[in-house]
Amino acid sequence: MTGDGLSGAIAKAAQILIEGGLVAFPTETVYGLGADARNGRAVARIFEAKGRPRFNPLIVHVANLDAARHYGQFGAVAERLAARFWPGPLTLVVPLAPHASLSDLVTAGLETVALRVPSHPVARAILSAAKLPIAAPSANVSGRISATAAEHVRDDFGDAVDFIVDGGPTETGLESTIVSLSREPILLRAGAIPREAIESALRQPLIAAAKGQIQSPGQLESHYAPRARLRLNAISARDGELLLAFGGGWRDAALNLSGSGDLREAAANLFAYMRALDSRSPAGIAVTAIPETGLGEAINDRLRRAAAPRMGENWR
Ligand code: TXA
Ligand code: MG
Repeated sequence: MTGDGLSGAIAKAAQILIEGGLVAFPTETVYGLGADARNGRAVARIFEAKGRPRFNPLIVHVANLDAARHYGQFGAVAERLAARFWPGPLTLVVPLAPHASLSDLVTAGLETVALRVPSHPVARAILSAAKLPIAAPSANVSGRISATAAEHVRDDFGDAVDFIVDGGPTETGLESTIVSLSREPILLRAGAIPREAIESALRQPLIAAAKGQIQSPGQLESHYAPRARLRLNAISARDGELLLAFGGGWRDAALNLSGSGDLREAAANLFAYMRALDSRSPAGIAVTAIPETGLGEAINDRLRRAAAPRMGENWR
């Protein structure tokens, strides 16, 4: 898209959001499916389009920390993390501000709210043009592979979305890291900012989210799932499987997340490659081992959930 085309698209996106419509737009992590976070009917359409369970709250995207303080209560730790990582792929779960006037659907009735200030220039331009808090989950059908390009959004939703702003493929390719600060800092979802970076800003370790307690349904066991069965830590493809490799020396790989073993490159390719292999309808997808350090923690988290046994379509 040309520069002019993109600024026209941004203005159109803002107008549709103001009128209560649904707009998909790029962020630095994945594409989001956005609506005015104060408009219950608009937000309800997100849940319908995604087939998302209503108990699963949404992230509210805002232009800056000032706007975020309008919706959430920021203590000293939240202020420090926001100053260090915003704009950028960190979502902070903080106590809901009094008179926040967000739709109850956004918070799923909780007394906390998830807030994030994205760094992607298109997302920022839409936020400043619309002057709204934008509720936006990842722009994929609930439980399935996240969208890192506009065509993924089209494949999943077709006409169910009013408008898609095509900003090209997203840079990071993994969703934001989610930290809850409603009590002591808890890592709710590993993501685009490695745990180590957050711990060093906090000067204390992050507590792991308690298992079995759904604080962040990105934490649901089966999530990010392809249709094909996924097998992890593979050393070769079995009959009917396609091999998704990481690092050098894999001759029979259908695709390689990063031939040089670069975790950033692997993160950026992960969801697009899972979609590409899945579209070939293999009996299974076998993925080679990925180190658990840095972005590897989030990549392995997504892969484990994508490989998890499925409880039934509604949960995904
Ligand atoms: O990178 C991202 O975070 C992308 C882009 C579009 O910003 N968004 C995204 O949204 O990944 P979604 O809905 O796919 O994941 C948001 C996660 C969900 O797991 C949800 O349960 C959790 O955030 N969440 C939202 N509000 C919460 C709250 N008050 N407490 C705990 N978890 C919350
Ligand atoms: Mg998601």
